[in-house]
Amino acid sequence: MRRSRRTETLRQLAAETTLDRQDVILPLFIVSGTNRTEPVESMPGVVRESVDVLTRRAAGLKSSAVLLFGVPDDPEKDDTGASALRDDGIVPQAVRALKSERPDLAVITDVCLCGYTTHGHCGVLTESGEVDNDPSAALLGKMAAAHAAAGADVAAPSAMMDGQVAVIRETLDNAGFGQTCVMAYASKFASAFYGPFRDAAHSAPGFGDRRGYQLTPGNRREAVREAILDEEEGADWLMVKPAMPYLDIVSDLRAVSRLPLAAYHVSGEYTMLKLAAQAGVISEREAVLEAMTCIRRAGADAIITYYAEEICQWLG
Ligand code: PBG
Repeated sequence: MRRSRRTETLRQLAAETTLDRQDVILPLFIVSGTNRTEPVESMPGVVRESVDVLTRRAAGLKSSAVLLFGVPDDPEKDDTGASALRDDGIVPQAVRALKSERPDLAVITDVCLCGYTTHGHCGVLTESGEVDNDPSAALLGKMAAAHAAAGADVAAPSAMMDGQVAVIRETLDNAGFGQTCVMAYASKFASAFYGPFRDAAHSAPGFGDRRGYQLTPGNRREAVREAILDEEEGADWLMVKPAMPYLDIVSDLRAVSRLPLAAYHVSGEYTMLKLAAQAGVISEREAVLEAMTCIRRAGADAIITYYAEEICQWLG
């Protein structure tokens, strides 16, 4: 076995998996107002920023694709997440700004209500306090249309409402946005690895948890069912989230679907690597590139990662 591993060139010739800078997607957190850059304490190196700040640094972004999250301030939140549907909301503003500065950039938007609702759940509630599926899906459709109207290339629904992909596809088509893709967070698990994100996006549920709509971590067959349903509903992309503890799911989806597949290396996965690197116990660059290569090996075409800018830099 060692003959073909003897030199770097031989190893490269035999390489089964590549990692390219075009394979990574950078998540960005957008706040309202101007001149705001706020470090996210739980995610070293990650910030929340206002549209003007993002606009000023757009030209220097190395990533070829971004995923936008709106982070409204508390007074902008309400029970139904109404500010998420506004054509002039923070995400549509950021989309317009990015598209005018960087028409080459692929702009993906997160479609979910949790950052916009006072209770922090991903949809609207029934009187008894449960997340109400169909009305929530209808709102997500309108939210996606507002993003598409601003010029987003891809809407990425992450709320895990049943039927949300079908509703979003229909709403987009009826509003004249037949060209806008839907990247379904198809198999999204109720994961403790989202912890640092909820600090970044101020989106922790005010009561209860998300286990009534997100997948149970141990359920592999159910994750495949979710993805098949999203494909049938018209998804253009599938996604698995989180990434590293769920590589078997990435591999399963790769086997059952011919759609392009993304994996989301989430906030907890990022922060674990950052803190280990800061503690000097792993080599950051090597560990990150290895992690990303292995996510690709499992079957992901693209990886959503807070390391996207560093990866582009490292890969030159
Ligand atoms: C919102 C959403 C979450 C993430 C992306 N979209 C958090 C959640 O479901 O609680 C997690 C992203 C990350 O941890 O990096 N629905």
